[in-house]
Amino acid sequence: MRLSDRPGLSAAAWLDRRWTPLLIGLAAGLVAVGAALLAGKGAPQEALLAARWTARVAAPLFLVAYLASTLWRLSPGAITAALLRRRRQWGLGFALAHTIHLAALLVNIIAFRPRPVATLVGGALAYAMIYLMALTSNDASQRLLGRGWTWLHRIGIHYIWLIFFISYASRAIHADPAYHVEGRILAPLFLVALALRLYAQRRRR
Ligand code: HEM
Repeated sequence: MRLSDRPGLSAAAWLDRRWTPLLIGLAAGLVAVGAALLAGKGAPQEALLAARWTARVAAPLFLVAYLASTLWRLSPGAITAALLRRRRQWGLGFALAHTIHLAALLVNIIAFRPRPVATLVGGALAYAMIYLMALTSNDASQRLLGRGWTWLHRIGIHYIWLIFFISYASRAIHADPAYHVEGRILAPLFLVALALRLYAQRRRR
Protein backbone atom coordinates (compact mmCIF):
# COMPACT_ATOMS: atom_id res chain seq x y z
CA MET A 1 0.00 0.00 0.00
CA ARG A 2 1.41 3.40 -0.98
CA LEU A 3 1.42 6.14 1.65
CA SER A 4 -0.91 8.26 -0.50
CA ASP A 5 -3.45 5.39 -0.55
CA ARG A 6 -3.92 5.56 3.21
CA PRO A 7 -7.18 7.45 3.75
CA GLY A 8 -5.74 9.59 6.57
CA LEU A 9 -2.93 10.84 4.35
CA SER A 10 -4.64 11.44 1.00
CA ALA A 11 -5.22 14.99 -0.25
CA ALA A 12 -8.99 14.41 -0.28
CA ALA A 13 -9.00 13.20 3.34
CA TRP A 14 -6.90 16.19 4.38
CA LEU A 15 -9.22 18.60 2.56
CA ASP A 16 -12.20 16.86 4.18
CA ARG A 17 -11.04 17.78 7.68
CA ARG A 18 -13.21 20.41 9.34
CA TRP A 19 -10.27 22.53 10.48
CA THR A 20 -8.20 22.47 7.26
CA PRO A 21 -9.82 25.55 5.62
CA LEU A 22 -9.68 27.55 8.85
CA LEU A 23 -6.02 26.67 9.43
CA ILE A 24 -5.20 27.58 5.82
CA GLY A 25 -7.04 30.92 6.21
CA LEU A 26 -5.23 31.75 9.45
CA ALA A 27 -1.80 30.65 8.19
CA ALA A 28 -2.22 32.51 4.86
CA GLY A 29 -3.20 35.77 6.59
CA LEU A 30 -0.36 35.56 9.12
CA VAL A 31 2.24 34.67 6.46
CA ALA A 32 1.05 37.67 4.38
CA VAL A 33 1.48 40.01 7.36
CA GLY A 34 4.89 38.48 8.21
CA ALA A 35 6.06 38.89 4.60
CA ALA A 36 4.88 42.54 4.59
CA LEU A 37 6.79 43.27 7.80
CA LEU A 38 9.94 41.75 6.28
CA ALA A 39 9.60 43.35 2.83
CA GLY A 40 8.33 46.84 3.77
CA LYS A 41 10.65 49.78 4.31
CA GLY A 42 9.13 51.68 7.20
CA ALA A 43 5.73 51.37 8.92
CA PRO A 44 3.53 53.03 6.20
CA GLN A 45 4.84 50.69 3.50
CA GLU A 46 4.61 47.65 5.79
CA ALA A 47 0.95 48.47 6.51
CA LEU A 48 0.18 48.98 2.82
CA LEU A 49 1.84 45.69 1.82
CA ALA A 50 0.05 43.89 4.67
CA ALA A 51 -3.33 45.17 3.38
CA ARG A 52 -2.43 44.24 -0.20
CA TRP A 53 -1.09 40.77 0.52
CA THR A 54 -3.75 39.77 3.05
CA ALA A 55 -6.41 40.51 0.42
CA ARG A 56 -4.41 38.55 -2.17
CA VAL A 57 -4.14 35.40 -0.04
CA ALA A 58 -7.83 35.60 0.91
CA ALA A 59 -8.87 35.60 -2.77
CA PRO A 60 -8.12 31.87 -3.45
CA LEU A 61 -10.02 30.87 -0.29
CA PHE A 62 -12.99 32.88 -1.51
CA LEU A 63 -12.77 31.22 -4.93
CA VAL A 64 -12.77 27.72 -3.38
CA ALA A 65 -16.01 28.53 -1.47
CA TYR A 66 -17.48 30.27 -4.55
CA LEU A 67 -16.69 27.35 -6.89
CA ALA A 68 -17.03 24.29 -4.62
CA SER A 69 -20.36 23.07 -5.99
CA THR A 70 -19.45 24.12 -9.56
CA LEU A 71 -16.25 22.07 -9.50
CA TRP A 72 -18.09 19.05 -8.13
CA ARG A 73 -20.78 19.33 -10.81
CA LEU A 74 -18.23 19.66 -13.62
CA SER A 75 -15.79 17.08 -12.29
CA PRO A 76 -17.16 14.82 -9.55
CA GLY A 77 -14.42 13.06 -7.56
CA ALA A 78 -12.98 12.61 -4.08
CA ILE A 79 -11.32 16.04 -3.95
CA THR A 80 -14.24 18.03 -5.35
CA ALA A 81 -16.62 16.10 -3.04
CA ALA A 82 -14.44 17.06 -0.05
CA LEU A 83 -14.43 20.72 -1.15
CA LEU A 84 -18.21 20.67 -1.52
CA ARG A 85 -18.74 19.00 1.88
CA ARG A 86 -16.51 21.59 3.55
CA ARG A 87 -17.78 24.58 1.56
CA ARG A 88 -18.99 26.36 4.69
CA GLN A 89 -15.60 25.91 6.33
CA TRP A 90 -13.89 27.39 3.22
CA GLY A 91 -16.19 30.39 3.60
CA LEU A 92 -15.18 30.66 7.24
CA GLY A 93 -11.49 30.28 6.31
CA PHE A 94 -11.95 33.18 3.87
CA ALA A 95 -13.72 35.24 6.57
CA LEU A 96 -10.76 34.60 8.90
CA ALA A 97 -8.16 35.60 6.30
CA HIS A 98 -10.20 38.67 5.39
CA THR A 99 -10.47 39.66 9.05
CA ILE A 100 -6.67 39.92 8.95
CA HIS A 101 -7.12 42.19 5.86
CA LEU A 102 -9.53 44.26 7.97
CA ALA A 103 -6.94 44.62 10.75
CA ALA A 104 -4.26 45.61 8.22
CA LEU A 105 -6.47 48.14 6.42
CA LEU A 106 -7.61 49.71 9.70
CA VAL A 107 -3.95 50.33 10.63
CA ASN A 108 -3.55 51.74 7.13
CA ILE A 109 -6.44 54.17 7.15
CA ILE A 110 -6.28 55.19 10.83
CA ALA A 111 -2.51 55.61 11.17
CA PHE A 112 -1.23 56.48 7.71
CA ARG A 113 -3.75 57.36 5.00
CA PRO A 114 -7.24 58.37 6.16
CA ARG A 115 -9.89 58.08 3.45
CA PRO A 116 -13.27 59.83 3.11
CA VAL A 117 -16.14 57.79 4.58
CA ALA A 118 -17.94 57.71 1.20
CA THR A 119 -15.10 55.70 -0.37
CA LEU A 120 -15.31 53.10 2.42
CA VAL A 121 -19.03 52.30 2.10
CA GLY A 122 -18.75 49.54 -0.55
CA GLY A 123 -16.01 47.71 1.39
CA ALA A 124 -17.81 48.13 4.72
CA LEU A 125 -20.98 46.62 3.24
CA ALA A 126 -18.91 43.67 1.97
CA TYR A 127 -17.61 43.12 5.51
CA ALA A 128 -21.18 43.24 6.85
CA MET A 129 -22.07 40.51 4.29
CA ILE A 130 -18.99 38.43 5.16
CA TYR A 131 -19.84 38.40 8.88
CA LEU A 132 -23.57 37.89 8.34
CA MET A 133 -22.79 34.89 6.16
CA ALA A 134 -20.19 33.55 8.61
CA LEU A 135 -22.65 33.83 11.52
CA THR A 136 -25.39 32.01 9.60
CA SER A 137 -23.14 29.27 8.18
CA ASN A 138 -24.79 26.53 10.23
CA ASP A 139 -27.78 24.19 9.94
CA ALA A 140 -29.80 25.91 12.68
CA SER A 141 -29.66 29.31 10.87
CA GLN A 142 -30.44 27.62 7.55
CA ARG A 143 -33.56 26.00 9.05
CA LEU A 144 -34.61 29.23 10.78
CA LEU A 145 -34.19 31.51 7.76
CA GLY A 146 -35.53 29.08 5.12
CA ARG A 147 -35.47 30.64 1.63
CA GLY A 148 -34.15 33.88 3.14
CA TRP A 149 -30.94 31.98 3.97
CA THR A 150 -30.48 30.95 0.32
CA TRP A 151 -30.99 34.54 -0.86
CA LEU A 152 -28.69 36.00 1.79
CA HIS A 153 -25.87 33.65 0.81
CA ARG A 154 -26.48 33.95 -2.93
CA ILE A 155 -26.55 37.75 -2.91
CA GLY A 156 -23.73 37.97 -0.33
CA ILE A 157 -21.30 35.76 -2.23
CA HIS A 158 -21.88 37.67 -5.48
CA TYR A 159 -21.49 41.03 -3.77
CA ILE A 160 -18.12 39.90 -2.37
CA TRP A 161 -17.23 38.59 -5.86
CA LEU A 162 -18.10 42.06 -7.22
CA ILE A 163 -15.82 43.88 -4.75
CA PHE A 164 -12.95 41.53 -5.65
CA PHE A 165 -13.61 42.02 -9.35
CA ILE A 166 -13.81 45.83 -9.08
CA SER A 167 -10.61 45.89 -6.97
CA TYR A 168 -8.67 43.89 -9.56
CA ALA A 169 -10.27 45.46 -12.65
CA SER A 170 -9.33 48.93 -11.36
CA ARG A 171 -5.77 47.70 -10.87
CA ALA A 172 -5.71 46.37 -14.43
CA ILE A 173 -6.22 49.91 -15.78
CA HIS A 174 -4.51 51.85 -12.96
CA ALA A 175 -2.47 54.96 -13.89
CA ASP A 176 0.51 53.34 -12.13
CA PRO A 177 1.65 50.37 -14.26
CA ALA A 178 3.08 48.69 -11.13
CA TYR A 179 -0.52 47.55 -10.38
CA HIS A 180 -1.17 46.06 -13.81
CA VAL A 181 0.19 42.52 -13.41
CA GLU A 182 -2.08 41.39 -10.56
CA GLY A 183 -5.05 43.27 -12.03
CA ARG A 184 -4.65 41.73 -15.47
CA ILE A 185 -4.24 38.20 -14.11
CA LEU A 186 -6.79 38.24 -11.30
CA ALA A 187 -9.67 40.28 -12.81
CA PRO A 188 -10.00 37.77 -15.69
CA LEU A 189 -9.68 34.90 -13.19
CA PHE A 190 -12.73 36.19 -11.29
CA LEU A 191 -14.63 36.49 -14.60
CA VAL A 192 -13.73 32.88 -15.43
CA ALA A 193 -15.01 31.81 -11.99
CA LEU A 194 -18.36 33.51 -12.65
CA ALA A 195 -18.56 32.00 -16.14
CA LEU A 196 -17.86 28.50 -14.74
CA ARG A 197 -20.64 28.89 -12.16
CA LEU A 198 -23.13 30.00 -14.80
CA TYR A 199 -22.07 27.21 -17.16
CA ALA A 200 -22.44 24.51 -14.45
CA GLN A 201 -25.89 25.86 -13.51
CA ARG A 202 -27.08 25.86 -17.12
CA ARG A 203 -25.84 22.31 -17.64
CA ARG A 204 -27.79 21.15 -14.57
CA ARG A 205 -31.01 22.57 -16.02
C1 HEM B 1 -13.68 49.59 3.69
C2 HEM B 1 -13.10 48.44 3.50
C3 HEM B 1 -11.75 48.24 2.83
C4 HEM B 1 -10.64 49.05 2.80
C5 HEM B 1 -10.46 50.42 3.43
C6 HEM B 1 -9.61 48.35 2.05
C7 HEM B 1 -8.32 48.80 1.89
C8 HEM B 1 -7.37 48.19 1.12
C9 HEM B 1 -6.00 48.65 0.96
C10 HEM B 1 -5.38 49.83 1.68
C11 HEM B 1 -5.40 47.83 0.06
C12 HEM B 1 -3.96 47.91 -0.48
C13 HEM B 1 -3.97 48.92 -1.63
C14 HEM B 1 -2.73 48.87 -2.49
O1 HEM B 1 -2.24 47.78 -2.81
O2 HEM B 1 -2.28 49.94 -2.89
C15 HEM B 1 -6.39 46.86 -0.36
C16 HEM B 1 -6.19 45.89 -1.30
C17 HEM B 1 -7.16 45.03 -1.73
N1 HEM B 1 -8.40 44.82 -1.14
FE1 HEM B 1 -9.18 45.87 0.39
N2 HEM B 1 -10.11 47.14 1.64
C18 HEM B 1 -11.42 47.04 2.08
C19 HEM B 1 -12.28 45.97 1.89
C20 HEM B 1 -12.07 44.98 0.98
C21 HEM B 1 -13.01 43.93 0.66
C22 HEM B 1 -14.36 43.72 1.35
C23 HEM B 1 -12.45 43.19 -0.35
C24 HEM B 1 -12.97 41.98 -1.06
C25 HEM B 1 -14.16 41.49 -0.91
C26 HEM B 1 -11.15 43.77 -0.65
C27 HEM B 1 -10.30 43.34 -1.62
C28 HEM B 1 -9.06 43.88 -1.89
C29 HEM B 1 -8.22 43.44 -2.98
C30 HEM B 1 -8.58 42.39 -4.01
C31 HEM B 1 -7.02 44.16 -2.88
C32 HEM B 1 -5.81 44.05 -3.81
C33 HEM B 1 -4.94 42.90 -3.41
C34 HEM B 1 -3.83 42.64 -4.42
O3 HEM B 1 -3.11 43.59 -4.81
O4 HEM B 1 -3.71 41.46 -4.84
N3 HEM B 1 -10.96 44.84 0.20
N4 HEM B 1 -7.57 47.09 0.31
